[in-house]
Amino acid sequence: MSVARRCSEFLVSRFPLEKLSYEHLANKTVPVHKASWIYLLGGLTGFAFLVQVVTGILLMLYYQPTVIGAYDSVRYIVQYVPGGSLIRNMHVWSSSAMVVFLFIHAITNAFARAYRKPRELTWVTGALSMFVVLGLAFSGYLLPWNNLAVYATKVGLQIAEMSTLFLPGPLGGIGGQMAALLTGPDGIGQETLNRFYTLHIWILPALLIALVSVHLLLVQIHGMSVPRFAETSHKQEKFFFNFALKDLSAWMIFLTLLVILAVVLPYDYLQPYTLLKRYSPLAAAPSGIKPEWYFYFLYYPLEVLPKVVVILGTMIFFAGVVAAPWLMEYVPRMWGKRGEESKFPIVATCVVALVIVALTLFGQNIVDVMRGTSAP
Ligand code: HEM
Repeated sequence: MSVARRCSEFLVSRFPLEKLSYEHLANKTVPVHKASWIYLLGGLTGFAFLVQVVTGILLMLYYQPTVIGAYDSVRYIVQYVPGGSLIRNMHVWSSSAMVVFLFIHAITNAFARAYRKPRELTWVTGALSMFVVLGLAFSGYLLPWNNLAVYATKVGLQIAEMSTLFLPGPLGGIGGQMAALLTGPDGIGQETLNRFYTLHIWILPALLIALVSVHLLLVQIHGMSVPRFAETSHKQEKFFFNFALKDLSAWMIFLTLLVILAVVLPYDYLQPYTLLKRYSPLAAAPSGIKPEWYFYFLYYPLEVLPKVVVILGTMIFFAGVVAAPWLMEYVPRMWGKRGEESKFPIVATCVVALVIVALTLFGQNIVDVMRGTSAP
């Protein structure tokens, strides 16, 4: 059978659009078992994104995307606009919450093996949306135009530049061209801010909405999967309105905690003042520049291992995450086992989760141990 025919048959079988009826939606059910809470995480991720959109639009009423005005406009929002500090801190904390929900959503679905047929494309659209979320976080970091924002972005752009250097011929220059496209012709400055702002408020949100729409369409078509341990129990509950009310309760609890956090712990309190000072191209770079915590899994290995190894490893890892539905089936066949009966998917998920959590929580300590220096 030709590749084109196989692809079209695959797509037709994964998008049985006849299931998109009103009856199907109204009678939607959710499996009931001891890990049913995992079905709340996708909704929580989506709700955190909604908080981002609403607070982001409110911030746009005052934020000025210019190298002269950005820093002062953020200060003005926080100090003088009624409710401005609350909105800004909700936006920043909710971005972290969204990454946490996304990570737990992906890991729990990997443990539940929810990527298996017919949900391969649900997984792939989810995995792609994860990269867009990281892009949103990276592009948003520059917008306050303080020392931390600009120097951390410089480091990110250097990584992008190096990311393809090991590829042969003209392919090696792709990373450099990408970084140049993001920076603009005059080095880090107004053009860079324009481009990051456009990415942050238009391009990436639009891409995320498109991907998540297909993701949710597929969830609706295929229904929720049941993890292996609960396959014998056939207990289900109605989505409308039993599970929908649980979703709503989880969102309200999250919103309450977010407001409390935004009021009692303004994000800027966690950073040293020198890093939050207005960026000046003439001043020396302050020490202590780091990316946001969700990039530590990449940042700390870059500190101690050869860059090419880390960048290549990260690219292979990301490709592996997207292709997980097929890898988890075909890799066990090397040991003569079917994906269903192999421990490989669970072991691989544990290793990935542990490495990411360890680098995020203890990255600095790991670097110190490897360098033989003591932690500050
Ligand atoms: C902005 C990003 C995302 C949003 C808004 C989102 C939303 C959702 C929602 C609402 C569900 C149904 C309820 C649930 O299982 O929690 C779901 C299911 C699912 N998601 Fe996501 N998701 C996102 C990202 C991801 C990522 C990063 C992955 C994996 C790499 C993923 C994989 C899946 C899978 C496999 C299912 C089906 C679960 C099942 O059938 O049991 N999603 N998602």
